[in-house]
Amino acid sequence: MNKKLIPVADPHANYLSHKATIDSAIQKVLDSGWYILGSVTREFEQNFAQFIGVKHCIGVNSGTDAIVLALRALDIGAGDEVITVSLTAVATVAAIELVGATPVLCDIDPETRCIDPAKIEALITEKTKAILPVHLYGHPADMSALKAIAERHQLYLMEDCAQAHGAQINQQMVGSFGDVSCFSFYPTKNLGAIGDGGAVCTTDDALADKLRWLREYGWKERYISSFQGMNTRLDEIQATILNAKLAYFEEETLKRIAIAEIYHQELADLELVLPSVKPDCRHVYHLYVIETERRDQLQSYLREQAIASAIHYPQAVHQQPAYLNRLPGSDQLSTTDALIPRILSLPMYPELKADDQARVIEAIRAFFLR
Ligand SMILES: Cc1ncc(COP(=O)(O)O)c(C=O)c1O
Repeated sequence: MNKKLIPVADPHANYLSHKATIDSAIQKVLDSGWYILGSVTREFEQNFAQFIGVKHCIGVNSGTDAIVLALRALDIGAGDEVITVSLTAVATVAAIELVGATPVLCDIDPETRCIDPAKIEALITEKTKAILPVHLYGHPADMSALKAIAERHQLYLMEDCAQAHGAQINQQMVGSFGDVSCFSFYPTKNLGAIGDGGAVCTTDDALADKLRWLREYGWKERYISSFQGMNTRLDEIQATILNAKLAYFEEETLKRIAIAEIYHQELADLELVLPSVKPDCRHVYHLYVIETERRDQLQSYLREQAIASAIHYPQAVHQQPAYLNRLPGSDQLSTTDALIPRILSLPMYPELKADDQARVIEAIRAFFLR
């Protein structure tokens, strides 16, 4: 009998687990006749700002747009440099180039897989305007070290939280440490819409105003553009879905953490590196990424057992054709370069059933111990 495929992520299962609530919330929006930037979006923005522990949330069309909008609101553009990482979704780097600025790539800390604060200062020039760490896979970057560097050099501290909704340092949510933070609600994200969505968070009132104007054509008042803005709005249907899911979000985060604990326990004795968690940090396991020299063989073996796995990412940004070694810092990424051929993301989603996780564990154990 063919085994059922265990996916890496399962946004459909997440929809099904809240189907009745989501369906009726969508119906209400359909019946309301108001589809973009209305009361439902405002309610979500308030709820999400409160959840993160900031004053303002500005809903936008995607995580990429959230970064573009945040950079534009900070007046970062042509001639400016932004320090970020190469081990990230390409969107982080692409957004910096979309505003005309230059991404400068910094290496990572091999334990957290996030930006290595010790390597940042050597990359700072008079053009540097901001540091943009990514809380990769759901583990927080070292925000206290980054804050100290940003203050010392008078740089903006931004946060790419696309993979880290609910991650914490000393019980404080990521997204509340920087001057501005950017979220994606792409369907597979920990808090995912059923379509595209994103948000920018900040506690700075003036910045929040600017973000709101810029997301809608630069309008301070309707039809009158005071700034050269863009259109990146969160729609009411996505906002109502996100509002519905936010009510269950902490519970789902705890499920991810419990699944990670089982992987930790059951795989600890094998010849592979498991994700580590810094003391005082809450890792929210957007992805559960292991490291092994035999990555490709393990992935094929799992595939034969009807277990999906994925590589985030098969190439770091500086290795991809569009960016190949043309960005500053690209030749100083030895930890990133060494990590790329070793990483593998295992199935990780709140609805992962215990017997399916047992199947994943059994297959990995069989691969290493056969
Ligand atoms: C770290 C990171 N930054 C930015 C993004 C961009 O988000 P979106 O796909 O919503 O544009 C993503 C998701 O793809 C991401 O994982």
